[in-house]
Amino acid sequence: MSPAEEKKKVRVVSGIQPTGELHIGNYFGAIKNWLALQEEYECFFFIADYHAITEEWNPERLRENTQRMVLDLLACGIDPERAVLFVQSHVPEHTELCWVFNALASYGDLLRMTQFKEKREHVERTQEFVSVGLFDYPVLQAADILIYHGAKVPVGEDQIQHLELTRRIARRFNARFGAYFPEPEPLLSEAPRIMSPAAPEKKMSKSLGPKHYLALFEPEESFWEKIRTAVTDVGPQGGTMSPGVANLFLLLKLAAPPEVYESFRTEYDRGTIRYAKLKEAVFEHLMGVLRPIRERRAQLTEADARAAMERGAAQARRVAEQTLREVRRRIGVGPVGP
Ligand code: TYM
Repeated sequence: MSPAEEKKKVRVVSGIQPTGELHIGNYFGAIKNWLALQEEYECFFFIADYHAITEEWNPERLRENTQRMVLDLLACGIDPERAVLFVQSHVPEHTELCWVFNALASYGDLLRMTQFKEKREHVERTQEFVSVGLFDYPVLQAADILIYHGAKVPVGEDQIQHLELTRRIARRFNARFGAYFPEPEPLLSEAPRIMSPAAPEKKMSKSLGPKHYLALFEPEESFWEKIRTAVTDVGPQGGTMSPGVANLFLLLKLAAPPEVYESFRTEYDRGTIRYAKLKEAVFEHLMGVLRPIRERRAQLTEADARAAMERGAAQARRVAEQTLREVRRRIGVGPVGP
């Protein structure tokens, strides 16, 4: 087998929540990597709508956002000819495997999940109760990955701990029921942690509010306004680059040609940099990356989303059903087949 064919057999799995607005943290942290990986590996990319019901939700909006996310990913360049693109809930085997994994996941391990601790605090303040689903979130994530025997998982830094738990669950399953699952590894992009422009000590995220993220498809005016007002204060650390300036440099590096980045770095080192100019360059070059994506997005219709979702679900289910048959057999449940 050629090296290229060998790679095609390695499974890559990753997901994204249907939050309604894809931001540049998602794009540069994960999706840009998905685009490169779909050329070489067998990829499964999905919209994690069952993860979205672990906090309060509105059913119509969830359905709308799920479909929207399919179109956003198509516009970014995810190609259903190259990757299996689907919606998590269209493959109900994910939740069945989650239940099996619940028997293998330790309560203590789940209590230690940083994301749970952070979200729990937020939910306690803003919603009626903290759901068991929120606590169990990482176990469903383990099922999402292992159901396809995912070996590589392209994600941002915030998902590393969930991947450790996934590996632990895989190990426990293999030890009890015979070697079956791989131990998946994270694949980090060159920008695994993009920060909020308004509070650059915090990660860019939709849950902090609109000032804190740059959405792929938001109007240019508000996009520019968020960059124009991005925090650049040096703060108490004196000599070192402040988190806000470091974040702007990271964005410039991601979006601009190397010589543009280098010339701003030189000015920074000389102490002659003007942050207004840096911000203008960040905006212009980000727009250069986003414009073609926006143009493609404007061409896509609901029918494109439906076609992609149907095709992806059928492809994903074939693999997922096979895994569940094997898992049920190994753990001693399910009908006894021929
Ligand atoms: P989600 O929807 O929060 O984010 C999708 C992807 O974007 C990355 N990301 C970032 N990367 C860099 N800087 C940032 N500021 C930033 N914000 C988000 C995330 O790390 C992620 O890769 N639990 C997952 C969804 C999921 C999943 C899975 C992922 C469900 N099942 C199985 C991988 C495998 C989540 O909420 O991602």
